[in-house]
Amino acid sequence: MTETTRPLHPDTLAVHTAAHRSPYGETSEALFLTQGFVYPDMETAEARFKDKSGAGFVYSRFGNPTVAMFEQRIAALEGAEAARATATGMAAVAAALMGPLKAGDHVVAASVLFGSCRFILAEILPKFGITTTFVDATDPQAWRAAMRPETALLFLESPANPTMDLVDIAAIAEIAHAGGALLVVDNALGIPTVSNPLALGADVVTYSATKHIDGQGRCLGGVVLASKAFIEEKIQPWLRHTGPALSPFNAWVMLKSLETLTLRVERQARNALAMAQALEGAPGIVRVRYPGLPSGPDYDLCRRQMTCGGTVLAIDVAGGKAGAFAFGRALRVMKISNNFGDAKSLVTHPATTTHERFTPDERAAMGIGDGMLRISAGLEHAEDLVADVLGAAEAAATEIG
Ligand SMILES: Cc1ncc(COP(=O)(O)O)c(C=O)c1O
Repeated sequence: MTETTRPLHPDTLAVHTAAHRSPYGETSEALFLTQGFVYPDMETAEARFKDKSGAGFVYSRFGNPTVAMFEQRIAALEGAEAARATATGMAAVAAALMGPLKAGDHVVAASVLFGSCRFILAEILPKFGITTTFVDATDPQAWRAAMRPETALLFLESPANPTMDLVDIAAIAEIAHAGGALLVVDNALGIPTVSNPLALGADVVTYSATKHIDGQGRCLGGVVLASKAFIEEKIQPWLRHTGPALSPFNAWVMLKSLETLTLRVERQARNALAMAQALEGAPGIVRVRYPGLPSGPDYDLCRRQMTCGGTVLAIDVAGGKAGAFAFGRALRVMKISNNFGDAKSLVTHPATTTHERFTPDERAAMGIGDGMLRISAGLEHAEDLVADVLGAAEAAATEIG
């Protein structure tokens, strides 16, 4: 390897990859806000429709130059052969499940998942003859024991929303492949450039681009990354005919946001760690869950499969729901919102928001107590955030008594 052939760092790829310029040679990527495309003659239209590679554009539900730039850039960051963008993160998860699965197939999935991911597996897929066994994702033996001859796919989030539990992706990939199944990882909380499930053996990765990729609270979006063959055979037909296309405008916002992703995530992860360390042992705080916390159970695994602990932490406040709500009332800087990955620090109470659909027993089995809060670290100054959460913890402890 010489200086001219050395692979480029993600920060560099995130700025320059797939900046396909129009004849005007613009510096910033062009926004092709168009539904369709015109052809010089019928022969060209016929040839474009015959070519299924997507190289020539025919209609923005199938593909669009700005969306393609976003897809190529995120694929380069992930080291994936191919990517397809979607209107939301849930459209990406749905495509990654519905694209490859068929009636009679069995899925093994982590029991702790974002509410809508679990809804697809538990409520939608059974209507099409696809069943799921939910397992404790942190226990490889539980995954192994749940495998059946008809198991076609394993599904997990790492870190899991909202418990922040890490899953050993390489170990679960090995179990999937030994059983002839695919491993799909929803990496919304793992974040591009922080955790790379494909490099650890996963076959398919999905993102809610709504989260860190936009990172500034503006656009919804999603993406599925996998081998070229998988994307062309299983994902592209699903997206093309069911229609959850990413709008070119949202793709343009996401494309520009990728340029600052590593900078933003580094700062947010430092802020998350600062808050996690400050809250450990603070009054009224029963437990702090953050993969990058040296005293935590997932620290070794975090060091093996992530470049940092991520931008989100979960805390258990004494006094259950009353304690958690008192914490929320006392915040000065942080905002109450069920999103994460944003420039603004956000806090949510999973038991009454993202996971309210589950019964108290189901939530307890997932490790989601009534005192749990999920905190997403933003770009503010660390001292302001630490003061905010310590002040809120003290106020909650005083109120609960
Ligand atoms: C783990 C996970 N996957 C998927 C999604 C869905 O993303 P979107 O809101 O972009 O559909 C979320 C949203 O919070 C999430 O937390």
